[in-house]
Amino acid sequence: MAEHPPGVRGRRRGPARWPLQRRLVALVLVLLAAAASVVGVVSTLALRDSLLANLDAEVVAASRRAMTGPGVQLEGRGQRIGTLRVATDGGRAAGIYITARAELAELPARQAAAVLSRLEAVGRPQTVVVEGLGRYRMVAQQAAGPVLVATGLPLDDVDATLTRHVATTAAVTLAGLAVLGLLGTLLVRRELRPLARVAATASAVAATPLDRGEVALPARVPDGDTDPDTEVGRVGAALNQLLAHVEDALAARHRSETQVRRFVADASHELRTPLASIRGYAELVRRVPGEVPPDVLAAMDRVESEARRMTSLVEDLLLLARLDAGRPLERAPVDLAALAADGVSDAHAAAPDHRWVLDVPDDAPSAGTVVVGDENALRQVLANLLANARVHTPPGTTVTTTVRPAGGAAPGTVAVVVRDDGPGFPAELADRLFDRFTRADAARSPGTGTGLGLAIADAVVRAHGGTITADGTPGATTFTVTLPVAGPAPPPPGGAAD
Ligand SMILES: Nc1ncnc2c1ncn2[C@@H]1O[C@H](COP(=O)(O)OP(=O)(O)O)[C@@H](O)[C@H]1O
Ligand SMILES: [Mg+2]
Repeated sequence: MAEHPPGVRGRRRGPARWPLQRRLVALVLVLLAAAASVVGVVSTLALRDSLLANLDAEVVAASRRAMTGPGVQLEGRGQRIGTLRVATDGGRAAGIYITARAELAELPARQAAAVLSRLEAVGRPQTVVVEGLGRYRMVAQQAAGPVLVATGLPLDDVDATLTRHVATTAAVTLAGLAVLGLLGTLLVRRELRPLARVAATASAVAATPLDRGEVALPARVPDGDTDPDTEVGRVGAALNQLLAHVEDALAARHRSETQVRRFVADASHELRTPLASIRGYAELVRRVPGEVPPDVLAAMDRVESEARRMTSLVEDLLLLARLDAGRPLERAPVDLAALAADGVSDAHAAAPDHRWVLDVPDDAPSAGTVVVGDENALRQVLANLLANARVHTPPGTTVTTTVRPAGGAAPGTVAVVVRDDGPGFPAELADRLFDRFTRADAARSPGTGTGLGLAIADAVVRAHGGTITADGTPGATTFTVTLPVAGPAPPPPGGAAD
């Protein structure tokens, strides 16, 4: 399943962040380990109790056998290897035991006394550590008079059996946990596979761009994973339903968008002819010699100029509507350096009071200034940027137009930069500069533009797979158009020309 992006606020760490699969297996393993531990402890305790009970019975029997003899004697009474016997008559203590080689050995008096001193009660078996011999189970008996006799058997066998039991239990438990972990992982993975498929469908949809145009959402959770009787199936079915809804909504949106676009295109188209008539008639009135009073002439001038403005607005709207509709653009080699030269010379003719600087590679177009695209549309991009640098700046402003293969961070692209040292545009405009009808000075000077120039530039550049950015720093207002060049990446740029 896909990882989530890091850095989400309040994320937990550790096992809480594990994938569900690992968490389930870990949970089962922890529970099993706990159960196995309880079973192991209980069975070990029970085993110890039963072994001790057996040994105690033997110790008591040995003691009884020993008591039939006098003093500290063991031999010839069928005693077990390791049997220990200590006695005291209240003063001197003595002890003997049967060695592993079935020989009698004497326990030093000091040790014998120590053993007796540790015995707490008469007649009840008790565990005593005998220095040098190990752990013993011993029982004390009061013999005649002050004579106290204690008999014991070693705990070695019991201890060994218990150790073996614990080791075996632990080994079996660990092996079982390992096998279960493996098996559990496989099973849980198998059980979660439908969920992974549902997630994959959701991811596929998430990767589909939905913001524009006609969107198809063919991804669906497979039928097998939409069984409403299972939890995952319900999620899968709900996702499919959601996808169907979204697809319907997107289709409806696309239909209405297309309608609006067609309406705008048709309306703009229909407006062209009457506007041409208005312009024509206004001009006609102006040309009628003599008979027209001056104020009517002035009004006709206004009518004509407003009709021209409206015509350019209508042309812009029509162009935008066509670009929106995704009309295929012409695809021919276009030298941006040549376009820039034309644009700058037009701008110079329109505004001789500005300083116009052209900076293109000497060896253009071979320097890599050629793109494949629609020459008229790209010409309009440059015209719009240069018109802005002309209209939105005071006379005397220097406007530099640079065309350079970008290289560096964006190899295989060519950049057209239009920069002026005018007042720039307000920062709050930067985010929506390329939106339609965005104009900083709309209130100040109505009639300078339509507010569509940069929107058109943006649409054209994007249709060519390029980008356009703006920087409104006063004194260095910069518009940068970056377009992919035609053919292989160009060599480094050469010198500049004015
Ligand atoms: N070179 C520039 N210097 C200052 N402001 C600019 C410049 N270019 C664009 N602008 C601002 O961006 C706005 C939008 O430009 P545009 O889309 O071409 O619309 P229009 O030029 O019709 O007003 C302009 O109204 C202007 O405020
Ligand atoms: Mg403009």
